[in-house]
Amino acid sequence: MIVEVGLLGCGTVGSGVVELMNRRQGKIADMTGLRPAIKKILVRQVDKPRPVELAPGLVTNQPAEVLEDPSIRIVIETIGGIEPARTYILQAIASGKHVVTANKDLIAVHGAEILDAAERHGVDVFYEAAVGGAIPLIRPLTEQMTANEISDLLGIINGTTNYILTQMTETGADFADALAEAQRLGYAEADPSSDVDGLDAARKLAILASIAFHARVTLDDVQVAGIRSISAQDVRFAEELGCVVKLLATGSDRAGVLSLHVRPALVSKQHPLAHVSGPFNALFVRGDAAGDLMFFGRGAGSLPTASSVVGDVIEVLRVIRLGVSGRVSRMYLPGKRVSPLHAAPARHYLRL
Ligand code: NAP
Ligand code: HSE
Repeated sequence: MIVEVGLLGCGTVGSGVVELMNRRQGKIADMTGLRPAIKKILVRQVDKPRPVELAPGLVTNQPAEVLEDPSIRIVIETIGGIEPARTYILQAIASGKHVVTANKDLIAVHGAEILDAAERHGVDVFYEAAVGGAIPLIRPLTEQMTANEISDLLGIINGTTNYILTQMTETGADFADALAEAQRLGYAEADPSSDVDGLDAARKLAILASIAFHARVTLDDVQVAGIRSISAQDVRFAEELGCVVKLLATGSDRAGVLSLHVRPALVSKQHPLAHVSGPFNALFVRGDAAGDLMFFGRGAGSLPTASSVVGDVIEVLRVIRLGVSGRVSRMYLPGKRVSPLHAAPARHYLRL
């Protein structure tokens, strides 16, 4: 049976999704008994050249052709930003469509609203690609690790800044050149200042902390500093100290009090995070039963991100096949509060 899919956006991530869905259509049909088929793709500019071949008539600039088509059962959102993505996703949910999104800006701020709407309408919303590109983080934290009390999150969760800092450290590249290259490679956000100023990592930390600590955490709860002020001299001094500069995201839960930070830090070369380079991301998670876990992989880019998006689409197909829709991927616990920002200590130095 064919399941019609609507795709919103066909840029770096959207085009990767088209490529991977085409490549894996037969396998997906064998695995799930359902064959996903992209029926319409919404973009801004219909005539713009795309990195993937698209059948004539597939692309539109009319949202209704996706959102008001009752035969479309899954909407994949890869537009980014808050509006119109939020409105489109809520409209899709209200029409009974399942949603897969890569949009951390939206989930970090309006995640509760979207998941509540999904629960009311009995559909699923999956967002694995919103954090860590190809790395499975959302589902492990939402599902397998819920038997734990998670006390700490620590990681590198922005590929663009990690690429810039790696280039500055390893090749002596200048900040602006390294950023331009990260943009060319498709790692950076449409507005790269959200990468450089730490906001992208802060959004991802808010999403991870909400799930790991079972709390309603939003972007406003995270204390943020980016890497704009890091100079070639800082990188050289770090080297002399046996360290590298990394943009670290840290979250902790101490007896229900949460502290959340994104900031540049000196990381000892003996620490595994010092060796996470280029567009790679890594996240340590400390659970009271599991102990320390480390997740590692490509945190940005077209196909790595599409890997998570298409993985979510396959999960939705299983949901459709089994008839168990409406699973909501968050469980809040009472009594959690975020430490006042000025009182929360940040980590500026990390060693084993
Ligand atoms: P992108 O390359 O800028 O692509 C955005 C796409 O959305 C374009 O095809 C654009 O159409 C379309 N679009 C934008 N505004 C629209 C509107 N108002 N109506 C209709 N279409 C619109 O962005 P991206 O890098 O693929 O990122 C997409 C999402 O994935 C973002 O939420 C981002 O944070 C997230 N993400 C990105 C990465 C990555 O490595 N890039 C990784 C993980 C998550 P036109 O092409 O016609 O302009
Ligand atoms: N701009 C983001 C990054 C894309 O560099 O990590 C992946 O979320």
